[in-house]
Amino acid sequence: MSNNAEKRDILVTSALPYATAPLHLGHILEHTQTDIWVRYQRLIGNNCTYVCADDAHGTPIMLKAEELNKEPEDLIEEIYANHVNTFNLYNINHDNFHTTHSEENRTLSERIFNALNEKGLIEIRTIEQLYDTSRNMFLSDRYVKGSCPKCFAEDQYGDNCEVCSATYDAIELIDPFSVLSNTSPVIKESEHLFFKLSELKQEIVEWLKNSKIQNPVQNKLSEWLDEDLKDWDISRDSPYFGFEIPGHKDKFFYVWLDAPIGYLASHINYLNKQNSNEFEKFWNPDSNSEIYHFIGKDIMYFHTLFFPVMLSNANFKKPSGVFVHGFLTLDGEKMSKSRGNFISADDFVSVLDPEYLRYYFASKLSTGVDDIDLNLEDLKQKVNADLVNKLVNIASRSANFLNKHFKNTLAKEVEDLDLINDFVHKSEDIFHHYENLELNKAMREIMSLADKANQYIDKMEPWKLIKDEKNLELVHQICSTSLNLYRILMIMIEPVTPKLAEKSFTFLNEKPSWKCIKKPLLGHKINKFKPLLTRIEDEQINQLVELKNV
Ligand code: MSP
Ligand code: ZN
Repeated sequence: MSNNAEKRDILVTSALPYATAPLHLGHILEHTQTDIWVRYQRLIGNNCTYVCADDAHGTPIMLKAEELNKEPEDLIEEIYANHVNTFNLYNINHDNFHTTHSEENRTLSERIFNALNEKGLIEIRTIEQLYDTSRNMFLSDRYVKGSCPKCFAEDQYGDNCEVCSATYDAIELIDPFSVLSNTSPVIKESEHLFFKLSELKQEIVEWLKNSKIQNPVQNKLSEWLDEDLKDWDISRDSPYFGFEIPGHKDKFFYVWLDAPIGYLASHINYLNKQNSNEFEKFWNPDSNSEIYHFIGKDIMYFHTLFFPVMLSNANFKKPSGVFVHGFLTLDGEKMSKSRGNFISADDFVSVLDPEYLRYYFASKLSTGVDDIDLNLEDLKQKVNADLVNKLVNIASRSANFLNKHFKNTLAKEVEDLDLINDFVHKSEDIFHHYENLELNKAMREIMSLADKANQYIDKMEPWKLIKDEKNLELVHQICSTSLNLYRILMIMIEPVTPKLAEKSFTFLNEKPSWKCIKKPLLGHKINKFKPLLTRIEDEQINQLVELKNV
């Protein structure tokens, strides 16, 4: 990172949450990781656009609407409003939050499909599927159960057996029944459209080599690529909530075809609102722009195998990288509503300041893909120890003196410029950790600097010095040193705790950019200190535990 480096043009996305239900803390983990990275990019001066959308298509949404006696359009609109509101509560700074059920997405999906078709990459084949004659619909794997064809275990879904791990085709199930109607389905033929992925393996291998993808993810992908790739079924029969495929009546794009195209749709919707016509330029295969997708490990397959070659073969730029995170568990267990181990994102903020969770997630996130546990007791201890007792304490310890003896004005000189410069120097490492998504390392470094700042105050003992008139100027310089240290720490932690940083900069009476980090604040009037954060109390943790079981 250097001051005169060219500004990078970056587009960043988080995976599109399904428009079936309110958000949970796993979604918040993903959007927090993305948001921190985006805020960091903006902090260092890059052009970084962050878009997302609701993923509004597919059978589950259609069935959920039916169950609620609603039109799917009404359901997705309600959920959309709820999602936007929740993301705001967590300070997730999307530039645009759109929906895949939009004209932009229809146009782009058709354009990409037509381009692939013209290139001979779409093939029509007749396949056999289970058909529910009472509901008049084909059954996808999750809506059919039966006995495993290999080990005969009962009550297994249509794609794989939980008992013997065999994978199979749903029509191989013994005594299959429809989960929707409890009736026995029949086998019925239907024409489907396939994207010829099998022909594009070499291109995928090349892309993987040249893009930013964590090692554990690369390894997993290599495993998949060691085998032949199967062509991908991109169509679904009516009834389906989605986009009808041009030229194929009653055939719809499979939700996973138009969902990632939703990234582009949200981007163009955003640019149109800004009266910008940069879209084609940005997505041109030769453009210098960078595109990164943040996703959970369950949806790697779609983002690394299908999506990049779908884009490139329709003459769009391929992603520059995909950042994969592990799953959030709660108090050591998988999050699950039915098992009483679940807190919705809205419920969580009704009890605790979301910045606490943002910090907690940052302190645990790295480039690994292991699951991440939210332990409520640990959350309390970490936030109280790090944010309240260490970090914010530096400000309150310094502010007292400045307020009482120095009319809230910083000294013209600091007592320890070397220490301040040491912090400035360390900021390079910390920015480096942000860039590489080693957020846990960045947080560890920031807290170790906060320790140093507190040790400095302890060592100087301004509360003793102040007892003697002649030390007045020295105390002034000491407090001005520690407050400058606090200021640097706030600049560095701002992507994680933007509200705390904002309150701190109001107190410091300054809106610093990362570039001012090198220049200490001297002879500067600050504002009256107001408490910046409160401790997490046991009572609040108890409330969260109660919410888990609702
Ligand atoms: N709609 C698809 C994504 C389409 S992207 C073109 C989807 N939706 S989802 O709502 O099920 O998940 C959205 C994101 O949240 C995914 O990246 C998923 O991995 C992530 N998570 C879902 N549960 C999670 C946890 N428990 N923990 C962390 N992330 C989790 O998949
Ligand atoms: Zn089995």
